[in-house]
Amino acid sequence: MNVGILGYGTIGRAIAAGLREHDAVRSIAATTRRRVSLGDSAVTLLASNAELATQSDVVFACVKPFQLEGVLREVAPFLKPETLLVSTAASVRLDQLHAWANGHRLIARAMPNMPCRIGEGMTVLCARELPPEKLELARSLFATLGRALIIDESLMDAATGLSGCGPAYIYLVIEALTDAGVKLGFSHAVARELVAQTVLGSARMVLESDEHPAALKMAVTTPAGCTVDGLMELEDGKLRSTLLRAAVAAATRSAELAS
Ligand SMILES: NC(=O)c1ccc[n+]([C@@H]2O[C@H](COP(=O)([O-])OP(=O)(O)OC[C@H]3O[C@@H](n4cnc5c(N)ncnc54)[C@H](OP(=O)(O)O)[C@@H]3O)[C@@H](O)[C@H]2O)c1
Repeated sequence: MNVGILGYGTIGRAIAAGLREHDAVRSIAATTRRRVSLGDSAVTLLASNAELATQSDVVFACVKPFQLEGVLREVAPFLKPETLLVSTAASVRLDQLHAWANGHRLIARAMPNMPCRIGEGMTVLCARELPPEKLELARSLFATLGRALIIDESLMDAATGLSGCGPAYIYLVIEALTDAGVKLGFSHAVARELVAQTVLGSARMVLESDEHPAALKMAVTTPAGCTVDGLMELEDGKLRSTLLRAAVAAATRSAELAS
């Protein structure tokens, strides 16, 4: 299949990087407003959105939410009826996508995240009246970029606040712990490696075991040892409720922007 990416920015590039290896993907084309250096020989930069729409079997719309209406109205007349259109825009609902795409039927809404770029993304998808095989096609394309789940549209803002924005929260945690490593005497590079691998390993244990994170935490915490001293500081600093409120605030903002 020929894949087209409208908007070759952060998410557009992440999707292209992941789909390059997909067996069923024959070609990847992309558009931007300005001419950019592609840095990826597997992607062809096209001069117009209309040309991209005409030649693509799957079109990912990866422009900013405020740019999406104009871009969809521009490409809608050029989409083949069987082309699957996937929007990655936060806060843009399926009813808006259907209206802006001028009656084009095959539309899915996705919320990917940045680690799609290295095949470790988390994407959620939803659709309305999309044939199951097209929804599965969209899911399977994102599954090559990490994990992909189909959810109800009513939970898309929640997913935006949790997994869409989530990498930023984790980068903040990594930055802070790296500073702690420097304070404790490590070089920045060593502190960064210690912290990032700790986050990666901890996340993989959560995904690969059925154990509750609280049970895994308990396994690290020796009675009268040092981990509990660190945990007490985190509880005093309200890390738990701060993270909870951060995700809820971002989800609430996403819902406000959608209304
Ligand atoms: N960043 C994330 O982590 C993330 C996560 C989940 C979802 N999303 C969603 O993904 C979408 C893209 O976000 P982003 O962070 O990737 O934005 P971005 O880095 O600013 O990329 C947007 C791209 O769209 C291009 N563009 C703008 N208008 C265009 C037009 N008329 N025709 C063709 N290309 C056009 C821009 O080109 P120029 O640079 O030439 O203007 C740019 O390459 C957003 O809707 C966002 O809600 C982002």
